[in-house]
Amino acid sequence: MGTLVIVGSQWGDEGKGKVTDYLAQKADVVVRSQGGNNAGHTILFDGNKFALRSIPSGIFNPKIKNIMANGMVIDPKQMLEELHGLEARGIKDYQLFISNRAHIVLPYHAALDGAYEQFKGEKKIGTTKRGIGPAYADKANRIGIRMGDFIQPDIFKEQLRITLKIKNMELRQLGLEEFDADAIYDEYSKYALEIKPFVCDTSLVLEEELVKDSKILFEGAQGVMLCLDHGTYPYVTSSSPTGASVPLNSGVAPRYIQDVLGICKAYTTRVGEGPFPTEIEGELADQIREKGHEYGTVTKRPRRVGYLDCVALNYARRISGINHLALMLFDVLSGIETLKICYAYELDGKQIQTIPATNQEYSRVKPLYIDMPGWNEDITNVTCFEDLPIPAQNYIRKIEELTKIKVSLFSVGPDRKQTIQIEELF
Ligand code: GDP
Ligand code: IMO
Ligand code: MG
Repeated sequence: MGTLVIVGSQWGDEGKGKVTDYLAQKADVVVRSQGGNNAGHTILFDGNKFALRSIPSGIFNPKIKNIMANGMVIDPKQMLEELHGLEARGIKDYQLFISNRAHIVLPYHAALDGAYEQFKGEKKIGTTKRGIGPAYADKANRIGIRMGDFIQPDIFKEQLRITLKIKNMELRQLGLEEFDADAIYDEYSKYALEIKPFVCDTSLVLEEELVKDSKILFEGAQGVMLCLDHGTYPYVTSSSPTGASVPLNSGVAPRYIQDVLGICKAYTTRVGEGPFPTEIEGELADQIREKGHEYGTVTKRPRRVGYLDCVALNYARRISGINHLALMLFDVLSGIETLKICYAYELDGKQIQTIPATNQEYSRVKPLYIDMPGWNEDITNVTCFEDLPIPAQNYIRKIEELTKIKVSLFSVGPDRKQTIQIEELF
């Protein structure tokens, strides 16, 4: 089958952008099906570095159809800025299709996102403050505005008027400034005009490609542990980054989804609040953070750092049907004497192998570790598995043993070329 789903198997920022770009060399279509500009996907090739937010990572190849599907929430202003930024850097010849069923993010969403965080105080989620949660809430509440309506001036104006009546009430109660429907309309109707040529029924575009047996990559955003349903709720995002969400969020039948490539750092990071059992602090954490440039692509926040957590990985495998792994940022682990891999947790004296549903329990678990000898060699120029120092080979084998997933690809640097594919993927 010519489809491959790329999912983040941890708490996001695993290197999904890099892998999507690498595999896109063989793809006909790249689809983003959920999230919005809370994502930051870094891509590096031919000396050029790009950080994509809402635009799919196939945008650099003129032959690839890039789809922003119905499950996304799209900030029109940011999206156009991103597109103009790409154009200014010479990316002018591209194919982009935006679903008429995708929801739009407007300035009041970001204002509410910020306000909820402020009111939560110490219990804040640590969101990217891009309005993602409030936009998905409006969608569920049936007061969201969809692309297909946004690009029709009269409908957009009318919907905005009704939605803002409700939103302004909430904003007023929270002590925030109200938004003026006319002012938003005047500014955003210009964006609508510019976006209009890209808007269509992307499910139909996908069907045409499926019939032709095209190669389709579904580029996930965020990671399974940030899933609204299966993640560490409420410290999650407001969509589902799992493989299961792809058919719904892109308008294809589930039977087209067979292979799921889990993207996984050789260690773990998390940005934002919430439990993180294998988190480490101190010298080693700082070393990994600096070597791996572990600062948020979107918010520039320092990422929290920890050992590899195979309980979380196994959970992601189960929830998301991961049957291949891509092990990323492997080079960052060179020069560490002993590496630890978490194989189980201990909760109230009992050994467990899964993620407890409540954060109250999850924040109490103690990780149980296997010690693995590290290696000192620089591996950034390695071109095959056999070139890796033996302890690095053993590290990969141990992950495969603990997760029962084959490592099909590993990455030894941010550049497209620093990617080693062990097994054909799609
Ligand atoms: P995404 O959100 O999953 O696409 O990941 P991000 O782009 O937010 O974060 C991954 C970071 O790691 C980016 O800065 C990448 O350039 C970088 N990166 C990806 N793979 C590797 C690798 O194998 N080694 C190193 N050193 N950096 C990598
Ligand atoms: P990519 O696709 C890492 C995190 C935020 C916060 C929580 C909720 O680059 O991997 P939100 O703004 O979505 O309401 O924030 O989710 N988060 C991410 N963390 N990578 C991401 O995307 C993320 N998108 C959201 O930090 O903890
Ligand atoms: Mg990212």
